[in-house]
Amino acid sequence: MSRASSHRVAVIGGDGIGPEVVAEALKVVAAAGVHLDTVPVELGAAHYLRSGEVLPDATLDELQGFDAILLGAIGPPVGSTEVPSGLLERGLLLRLRFALDLYVNLRPFTAAPGSVAAGADFVVVRENTEGTYAGEGGFLRKGTPHEIATQGSVNTRMGAERCARFALELAQRRDRHHLTLVHKTNVLTFAGDLWQRAVDEAGADFPDVTRDYNHVDAACIYMVEQATRYDVIVTDNLFGDILTDLAGAVTGGIGYAASANLNPARTGPSMFEPVHGAAHDIAGTGRANPLAAIRSAALMLEHLGEDDAAARVTKAVTDYTAGHQPGTPFPSTVAVGDAIAERV
Ligand code: IPM
Ligand code: MN
Repeated sequence: MSRASSHRVAVIGGDGIGPEVVAEALKVVAAAGVHLDTVPVELGAAHYLRSGEVLPDATLDELQGFDAILLGAIGPPVGSTEVPSGLLERGLLLRLRFALDLYVNLRPFTAAPGSVAAGADFVVVRENTEGTYAGEGGFLRKGTPHEIATQGSVNTRMGAERCARFALELAQRRDRHHLTLVHKTNVLTFAGDLWQRAVDEAGADFPDVTRDYNHVDAACIYMVEQATRYDVIVTDNLFGDILTDLAGAVTGGIGYAASANLNPARTGPSMFEPVHGAAHDIAGTGRANPLAAIRSAALMLEHLGEDDAAARVTKAVTDYTAGHQPGTPFPSTVAVGDAIAERV
């Protein structure tokens, strides 16, 4: 335990269930004996509607100075038309990922007992700054019958390679030493070729790590039928987005899925957030599952060097989940937080 040290953490509760689940995550961190110096930062749909601001430059500058960022969820209620589609996604979440160079989106999955993927335990390393997310493209002749929209996929050798190396190092540290590249090399012959070479060439430096390749469509079948085959998966931004929702669904539900947006070079803070969204429909009802936020906080503790506390929180979540019948409702957001806090 490191009661003496303190880490400066920006807390973006955000919208909907975001603030509720983040409160439980912070409760658990405190129970684990780690002192955080937290500063709330107002961002998200509600903040935008109040202020007209998505992510002011001054806020971005301020965020750069923290040791880590803990984020709940961002977004307006489904069906709301007050916030234009893509404004917060591109202007806030992706801007943070790009500006802070959070080039790895790390998403670990430990299947809950009784889930479709029971027994599976794997990590997805999703490239987080490039691909179709980069924003390349645009319209020509917009609004005419000859309208054209292009949306390119940006793949730099440096971008693919640094993710490949991160994934290989991770596989090296894990028990099974196994890495699967997921792509669509049979059709995306340019991007796929670059990714395959980046992984193969970096892989030569990791002789202990066995390597495999799956096309993304096949990976979707394996994810449902045989997810135990996976140890570490490395993939591009969009494939990783889709595959990790599927992985969440088969391992117990998106309510468990945690993520770390990492700047492995540590030139600035990394950002930790549950994979799920703001779920306005259940906000304030006490029905939000805080486990994804709590597990995201454990990833944050690990990144901050609080390995012992991180391991205790992760184990507490896993043990709690193991004792929970899939499909049965949780007691309440606060009660789950309390139960985990007691176990750490
Ligand atoms: C995620 C989300 C984001 C993404 C959206 C909200 C921009 O779906 O974190 O997976 O597509 O990356
Ligand atoms: Mn997603």
